[in-house]
Formats: sequence, structure tokens, C-alpha cells
Amino acid sequence: MRSRHLLGLEGMPAEDINLILDTAISFKEVLSRRIPKVPTLRGMTIVNLFYEPSTRTRISFELAEKRLSADTVNFSASGSSVSKGETLKDTLQNIEAMKIDMVVIRHSAAGSPHYLTTCCQSIVINAGDGAHEHPTQGLLDIFTMREKYGKIDGLKVVIVGDIKHSRVARSNIWGLLTLGAKVSVCGPPTLLPVEMEKFGIKVFDDLDEALDGVDIVNVLRLQRERQQSGLLPSLREYSRYWGITKERLGKLNENFTIMHPGPMNRGVEISSEVAEGTYSVILPQVTNGVAIRMAVLYLLSGGSRKDPTTGGKVDE
Ligand code: CP
Repeated sequence: MRSRHLLGLEGMPAEDINLILDTAISFKEVLSRRIPKVPTLRGMTIVNLFYEPSTRTRISFELAEKRLSADTVNFSASGSSVSKGETLKDTLQNIEAMKIDMVVIRHSAAGSPHYLTTCCQSIVINAGDGAHEHPTQGLLDIFTMREKYGKIDGLKVVIVGDIKHSRVARSNIWGLLTLGAKVSVCGPPTLLPVEMEKFGIKVFDDLDEALDGVDIVNVLRLQRERQQSGLLPSLREYSRYWGITKERLGKLNENFTIMHPGPMNRGVEISSEVAEGTYSVILPQVTNGVAIRMAVLYLLSGGSRKDPTTGGKVDE
């Protein structure tokens, strides 16, 4: 890995992305064992610093750390000294004073993981920063696509929903473009960022046009507060024009795939029928998330000269 930290997929070389994906294959095998645990990160201490709610990412990181035999500590902003006014920098410097090796951070402020790298010694992993990036979600999505199609180059992927405020969309876009996928986005004009086309991304506000000839639809959660902020007339209208229902799927390529990072608003951005259809990989995405996070933790720990699946040294 060229970087000491994982802050985002923007600018990450294809070799590094592929190294993470390939390493995750070994860890997926570990997870299928009767005892799904290896001693690879024994002696390392990892703090999961979550300033925003999370189900999947938080549990997935914690499980990945435990499967690698690291010592883990979970921190939630609620119930901590953050409520007494302690800053992010002071919080992490105090936790670091207790001797830790890595920090996994989710924060509503874009750039907060990068900021921590300037004032702390630990290896930093971004678990979602504002509307900026969610790199491990992007990696697990790409891993899930590659697992099904055997490649990313040339795949046609459309991301549907609130592109403007989505860190999942950004990480997917950067990673997929680097690996040669054809990426398009679709959503209400008020939720589409300007200047997407200059990156080679097609932009649609008509869902039926966007779905034509596509292999993969990655459906984003609609953040309900967008309606309060005046960016959407109503959830019902959103659902009617941009919701993924079974009737909409006819234009997709044969062997198409439906993805969603979760949490889902059933009946808003995706119908239950689609979410639970045979073409949906929403739960496999979650399974793959543990393997991807194990790969990231292992590679950032400097483990490339160790056998990931045993923790022992490999011959050089
Ligand atoms: N996909 C995702 O980031 O889900 P959580 O917010 O539950 O972690």
C-alpha cells in the first residue's frame, strides 16, 4: 500500500485497490472456516471512533478486528466527554496516550480523518466522513461486483439517488473509474452535483434512460432531511420517479445486479420486492464488508510480508 492511511479512493492507484480486493479473497476464505479467526494482528490495539450512528460499518470493523485477533475499543461520541466540549484532536490524543495503533473514524465533518493524520501518530482509516468518502464501502461494493462478474473493466454501473450528498457514491465513482468501469449517475436535478461529466460520468435525471443497458444498479439511501431542506417536493414523488421497482428492471442487461449500501428505506428508493429479488446482492455486500475490512487492516498494519491467513511470516 502506498499510503499509511486509508482516507479515500480518490487518487488510489489501481494496484492498491486490486491488492486490497485480492487480499480480501483470502480473508473471505478465513471467514468460512469453522473457527473464523487468525492471529495476524495479535498485539495491535484499534479504536473505533464513531461520532455518527452506524450499524453495518461499525459492527463489520469490530468483527474484522476480532477475526484478526486485535484488541478493540469502541468509542461513541454520545456518553463521552465530547458532550463536555472536548475537541476531536484532544479526544484522540488522550486515547493515543493509552497506547493504540490504529483508529477507525466516522464523523459528520468531511476531512476529519485527514485532519487526524496531521495531529496524531496512529494509522487512520476513514469509516465515512460527511459527504466526502466512505472508502471501505466503495471497496466492498467493487469486491462484490468483481466476485459476480470476474472483472470491473467495462462493467456498466449506474448509481441512483442523492449523489450530491453521498460519500458512498463518491468512493464508488473514484474506485470504479480507476478500474475501468463505465459509471453513470441518476437522480433529481437538485441532488446531482455539477461538473460530473468532466470525469467521464454520464448524468441522467430520467431513470428509464439511465437504466438502459446497465449491468449494475447501486441504489442510495434517500436522506429524508433532503425534503425538509427543500430539495425534494415529497418522498412519494421521489419514489415515483427515482424509486427502483420491479417494473423498472426490464431495461437492464441480462444477469443484472441490484446493490444498496444500507440502511434502506423500503418503498422509497427501493421496493421490498427488488431488495429481496434473486438479483439483489445487498446481504452479500455486508458479508464481503468484513473480508474487505480485514484486508485493509492487515495491509495497513504493514502485514504484506506476513501470510494473511495464518499471521506467520512468508518466505521472501
Ligand atoms: N453502509 C453503511 O455505512 O451503513 P451504516 O451507516 O449502518 O454503517
